[in-house]
Amino acid sequence: MADRAALTDSPVSPEDAAALIRGRRTIDRFKPGEVPETALIHEAIELARWAPNHHRTEPWRFCLIGERTKTRIIDLNSRLLTASRGAEVAEAKRERWQSMPGWLAINCISNDDPITAREDYAACACAVQNLMLYLHSAGVGTKWASGAVTREPEFLELLGAQSGEYCVGLIWYGYAQRRPRSQRQSVDHIVRTLD
Ligand SMILES: Cc1cc2nc3c(=O)[nH]c(=O)nc-3n(C[C@H](O)[C@H](O)[C@H](O)COP(=O)(O)O)c2cc1C
Repeated sequence: MADRAALTDSPVSPEDAAALIRGRRTIDRFKPGEVPETALIHEAIELARWAPNHHRTEPWRFCLIGERTKTRIIDLNSRLLTASRGAEVAEAKRERWQSMPGWLAINCISNDDPITAREDYAACACAVQNLMLYLHSAGVGTKWASGAVTREPEFLELLGAQSGEYCVGLIWYGYAQRRPRSQRQSVDHIVRTLD
């Protein structure tokens, strides 16, 4: 194992890689008011863009969301929820969203060619995973959100999105208050071995 890793220039052992991948879990409660350093987020974005992307389209755009935009997004979400599910639900969501310490969004540039569009979305998802794994290695938890608000034209406007850009994920980040468990189906259930 170790010799093969040396040939591919891997700086981490397979055991460490496995622990990193298994250890990342979606965090749903963050320590309030503790926002990781901006430099760390910049580094995570630098690494996110090393994700595979067919034809090297580099279809991702990253939006670092500050306090003013965060408030506007929360207001927008609140308005939408009040209309669809009532004031009580909207208020509960407002409180929850306000407790999310760090905010960033990853957008994808849309493409008229359906195959490229699909591949570009896949590339952006890989970029999100790179970003989340790197942050996890630095002790920072993340949650990928893709609720209805992320599909609203007004949301994209708040992100300064250019025409054709759509949101792949709103990523909340911070220090975990608790570490949720997550289950997976057995490998046998998901693997088909063909001769
Ligand atoms: C494309 C995508 C969209 C997601 N959107 C949401 C979301 O809107 N709300 C949410 O609570 N979790 C969202 N998640 C996170 C998943 O719920 C989470 O990954 C899943 O429960 C497995 O948990 P784990 O990440 O801890 O393994 C999303 C994940 C992906 C890949």
